[in-house]
Amino acid sequence: MSSTSAAARLHLTIDGRQIEVEAGATVAAALVLAEAGGTRLSVSGQPRAALCGMGVCQECRVTIDGRAHALACQTLCREGQIVLTHNQAIKAIKR
Ligand code: FES
Repeated sequence: MSSTSAAARLHLTIDGRQIEVEAGATVAAALVLAEAGGTRLSVSGQPRAALCGMGVCQECRVTIDGRAHALACQTLCREGQIVLTHNQAIKAIKR
C-alpha cells in the first residue's frame, strides 16, 4: 500500500479551453495555467489581471458559471466550472 495518494484533479473550461488543476487551486491560478492573458478590461479598454490575490483590488473579475464580476482570486476551482475572461465575454455579448 502506498503512503502517498495522487492529488485530486479538477477539470474546468477557461475561454473554451479545457484545463486540469489540483483540487484547492483558485480560478486565478487556473487563469495563469491557461495563459488566459488577463481577466477584464478597464473602463479605458486596458487589459487587467489579478494583482493582490486577496480580494481587494477587484482586478481579477471574470464570469464564472454565468455569474459576472466573480473574483477569481477568491473562488476555488470546481469540476465542470466554466470561466470567461473579457476575451470570451465580449464575444458572447456581440453574438
Ligand atoms: S487579485 Fe485582487 S481582488 Fe482578486
